[in-house]
Amino acid sequence: MVDAGRVLLLVLILLLIHCSLAQHSFLNSTSERIALLDLRSSLGLRSSDWPIKSDPCNNWNGIQCKNGRVTGINISGFKRTHIGGSNPSFSVDSLVNLTFLEYFNASGFSLPGSIPSWFGYGLGSLQVLDLRSTSMSGPLPDSLGNLTRLDALHLSDNNLAGSIPSALGQLMQLSVLDLSRNFLTGQIPTTFALLSNLSRLDLSSNYLTGSIPPGLGNIDSLKSLNLYDNNLAASIPVELGNLSHLVELNLAKNSLSGSLPVELAGLKDLVRMEIGDNGLEGWLPDGLFSSLKKLQVVVLSGNKFDGALPEALLSLPSLRVLDVSYNNFTGVISTFSSNAPLPEAALKKRRKRWIYILVGLFGGLGFIVILVLVMIVVLRRCHDTIANQKGSANVGPVPEGDSPSLPKDPVILSGFRDSFTYEQLLCSTSEFDDANLIKSGHSGDLFRGFLDGGSP
Ligand SMILES: *[C@@H]1O[C@H](CO)[C@@H](O)[C@H](O)[C@H]1NC(C)=O
Ligand SMILES: *[C@@H]1O[C@H](CO)[C@@H](O)[C@H](O)[C@H]1NC(C)=O
Ligand SMILES: *[C@@H]1O[C@H](CO)[C@@H](O)[C@H](O)[C@H]1NC(C)=O
Ligand SMILES: *[C@@H]1O[C@H](CO)[C@@H](O)[C@H](O)[C@H]1NC(C)=O
Ligand SMILES: *[C@@H]1O[C@H](CO)[C@@H](O)[C@H](O)[C@H]1NC(C)=O
Ligand SMILES: *[C@@H]1O[C@H](CO)[C@@H](O)[C@H](O)[C@H]1NC(C)=O
Ligand SMILES: *[C@@H]1O[C@H](CO)[C@@H](O)[C@H](O)[C@H]1NC(C)=O
Ligand SMILES: *[C@@H]1O[C@H](CO)[C@@H](O)[C@H](O)[C@H]1NC(C)=O
Repeated sequence: MVDAGRVLLLVLILLLIHCSLAQHSFLNSTSERIALLDLRSSLGLRSSDWPIKSDPCNNWNGIQCKNGRVTGINISGFKRTHIGGSNPSFSVDSLVNLTFLEYFNASGFSLPGSIPSWFGYGLGSLQVLDLRSTSMSGPLPDSLGNLTRLDALHLSDNNLAGSIPSALGQLMQLSVLDLSRNFLTGQIPTTFALLSNLSRLDLSSNYLTGSIPPGLGNIDSLKSLNLYDNNLAASIPVELGNLSHLVELNLAKNSLSGSLPVELAGLKDLVRMEIGDNGLEGWLPDGLFSSLKKLQVVVLSGNKFDGALPEALLSLPSLRVLDVSYNNFTGVISTFSSNAPLPEAALKKRRKRWIYILVGLFGGLGFIVILVLVMIVVLRRCHDTIANQKGSANVGPVPEGDSPSLPKDPVILSGFRDSFTYEQLLCSTSEFDDANLIKSGHSGDLFRGFLDGGSP
């Protein structure tokens, strides 16, 4: 009796689970089914990915559904049919009938043409739009600013041209905005200051002009700001120092001028600072680097900085890469004895290994030579003692000069000054040439060098 009851209960539960699963997984909207079939033919998708006779929610690759409606489409990595591939275009009109679509990912799928302006009005539920590397061209439509639920917008690696619509500043929920590696011109919209939930802004490798909007300093949640390789001018706004959560700052390869603002000391979480290849000048403010304790990578190369390298910069606890080349710095750098990391030489392995072997070999030989000499000394001492004990005429201690001395200190560092100038270091190590690299250490590389007199 009890067993039969249990079995019945189990069957009932299984049936319930089956029903609820079925309710959630079958596409139950006719217009959405038609829309998907339209999309399938306009993009030329293959039946191996989207088999025409089976249920899209269950059997089609890259389709996500909720309550019988399509919420996500991922055609990234798909291949088109021969017919579809012969004349690819940005024909996704039927998406407009997928009213619950939250996620559309076509990265790497060729969609030549421009973003249709109905996108902004027709895809009101969209949260993630990924169209990177899709061969898109043309301008960004203003209507993108109406996708107010958008959380991530990836449009990098395309041929997008024209200016960035200031309407994008309406996307208040946006956390990732990536427009990098396109042909965008004009200025960075000042409305970007309103993107209060942004954590990553990447506008790198475009043709943007004008200055960096000071309002970007308002985006408290910003972790990564990449404006690398544009034509941005004027000075670095002091307001950027308000970005207390920023981890990466890349302003390299622009036409920025003026000095490095001491206000950047507010970037307490900064790990990478890349501001090379600009027209920045003046002294590096001393108070700046002492508060940027997390810095690991600092690239200042290709500017017009002068004065001395601040001690605080050289003694940053986590610094791995420091590139100060092609500037007008003067002064001295403390020697290897301090923890100061040295500018890294370029990232070649075979050569390095060769040098390790040489160092190992000579190090080993040197060790053996010293060992043999020590043994000789000890043996001589023993011999002398025995001789003294045995000898009759020889009284008193053996004169020091009699014992064979080791060659004068093999490491002749004692005669050197405590510090070298940067120029001296450069010169003595042939500009930190690989051939002089002894060891890549935890906090910097160790180089062999020869001073003017020829001493190592
Ligand atoms: C589709 O499924 C949902 C929930 O699963 C249900 O509420 C809705 O009535 C169904 N619509 C149609 C047309 O069957
Ligand atoms: C998108 O689809 C491709 C190909 O089916 C798959 O490899 C990838 O993991 C999917 N990506 C996501 C984010 O679902
Ligand atoms: C959207 O659906 C409606 C009715 O189902 C249809 O008339 C219209 O042509 C569809 N639009 C597109 C772009 O497919
Ligand atoms: C889109 O799909 C690609 C390939 O699977 C994936 O690497 C990428 O992260 C996806 N984009 C988003 C925003 O999920
Ligand atoms: C799109 O946004 C603009 C404001 O930028 C607004 O005037 C317009 O009515 C919106 N259009 C739609 C269809 O929501
Ligand atoms: C802000 O972005 C995060 C993701 O970075 C997201 O989880 C959160 O919901 C967003 N908040 C708002 C108010 O949009
Ligand atoms: C932002 O930076 C400016 C200049 O450094 C400063 O005057 C202002 O108080 C800062 N704002 C906030 C909210 O921290
Ligand atoms: C570098 O400094 C020297 C001496 O201070 C000065 O004569 C020279 O013009 C400077 N060069 C640049 C490019 O600023």
